[in-house]
Amino acid sequence: MGGTLVSRLFTHAPGRVELLGNHTDYNEGVVLGAAIDRGINVAGSCRDDGMIQIHSHGFGKVEIPLSELRPRNEARWVNYALGVVRELIDLGVLVSGFHAEVTGDVPIGAGLSSSAAFELATALFLLKLFPRELAPLEIAKACQRAEHRYVGVQSGVLDQVIVLFGQANHAVFFDCRSEEIRLIPFPPDLALIVTESGKERALASGEYNLRREETHAAARVLAVPALRDVMSADLARRSDLPNLVRRRAAHVVGENERVWRAVKLLEAGDGIGLGKLMSESHESSRQNFENSTPELDLLVSIAQELPGVLGARLTGAGFGGATVTLCQRELAQEIATELSERYATENGITPRVLVCDIADGAA
Ligand code: GLA
Repeated sequence: MGGTLVSRLFTHAPGRVELLGNHTDYNEGVVLGAAIDRGINVAGSCRDDGMIQIHSHGFGKVEIPLSELRPRNEARWVNYALGVVRELIDLGVLVSGFHAEVTGDVPIGAGLSSSAAFELATALFLLKLFPRELAPLEIAKACQRAEHRYVGVQSGVLDQVIVLFGQANHAVFFDCRSEEIRLIPFPPDLALIVTESGKERALASGEYNLRREETHAAARVLAVPALRDVMSADLARRSDLPNLVRRRAAHVVGENERVWRAVKLLEAGDGIGLGKLMSESHESSRQNFENSTPELDLLVSIAQELPGVLGARLTGAGFGGATVTLCQRELAQEIATELSERYATENGITPRVLVCDIADGAA
C-alpha cells in the first residue's frame, strides 16, 4: 500500500448539549448551549495517492478515490466526513488523500451532536494535515454545508458553533444573525445530566426539514424576514393566524425570549431561574412544536419531581434522542440513578444516563 506520508495526527471534537434556543438557529435567532466531556476523535495520516480511507470502530471501513468523492448510500455514516472533505476542497484546501481512524464516546443519534463532532474533528484533522488558515466560524459553516449537501439535513449552525467554541465550565451564547459569541460562566454548584430516551432520532427522515419549512412559512405569513423579528406580544395580537402557524411561531419566538432571559440569569448566577426556563421550553416543544415524544416527556416529568432538579427539557432536534436535566451538583449521581430506575420501571427501557461536565470546544 503506497502513499502514507507524515506522522500521525490526532484531533478531538466534543458533543454538545443545547440548553435553550430550540430550532431558533435556522430562524436567525439566538441559542445557548455547552460542549460536553464526550466526543469524537480522529487520528491518522496523509496519503499522496489520492485515496481516502476512513475506519470507524463502530461502523466499518470505507476506501474511495478522491476522484469519486460523493455521498455514499451504502455507508451513510461516512457522509459527514466526506461532506467536509468536499467543502474544504471547495475552499481551496489541497487534500491529496488520507487515512483516518474514528473513535468516540458520545452517544450517536441521541441529540448530542455526534454528527457535528464528527464533522469538526474531521475538518480540524484535515486542516492540520493540509495546512490552511480558515477563521473558526468559516470552519463551522463549512461543516454545516457538508451536512446540507452530503447528509440532506438542512440544519442550522448551532451544533457546529458550540462544538467549536465551547469552553470548560461555560455556556456558549450565539446570535445566529449578528454572529456574536459570548461565553458565560456556568454556576459551579450545578450539573447537567443527559438521559437517552432509547429512541434514536431520524433527522433526515423529514420532520426536521418540515419544521424548517413550517417556521419559514410562518415568517412569511407574519411578513418578517425571519421569526427572529417577532415578539410574543406581536403574536398575541394576531388572533387571525392559523393554529399551526401560531404554535410553530410561538415556540421559536418563546425560545428566543427564553435565551435572552437565561443569559441575564446566568450572568447573575441564577440557576433556579435557568431551570424554570428549561422546563418551560420543554412544555413549548410538547405543545407548540410537536418535536417531543412520550419517552422524552416521561423523562422530563420524572426528573422534575426529583429533589435537587431545577429543570429539564429535550435537547437538540427532538423527535426522540435525549433530555438534559439541570440539577444540584452534589445530588447529580443520586438523581441520575433515580431517573434511570424510574424510567426503566415505567417504560421498560434502562436509559443511558450521563452526568456531564462542560468541556472545552474543538478549536
Ligand atoms: C439539530 C440541528 C441544529 C438545531 C437543533 C434544534 O441539533 O442540527 O442546527 O436546529 O437541532 O435546535
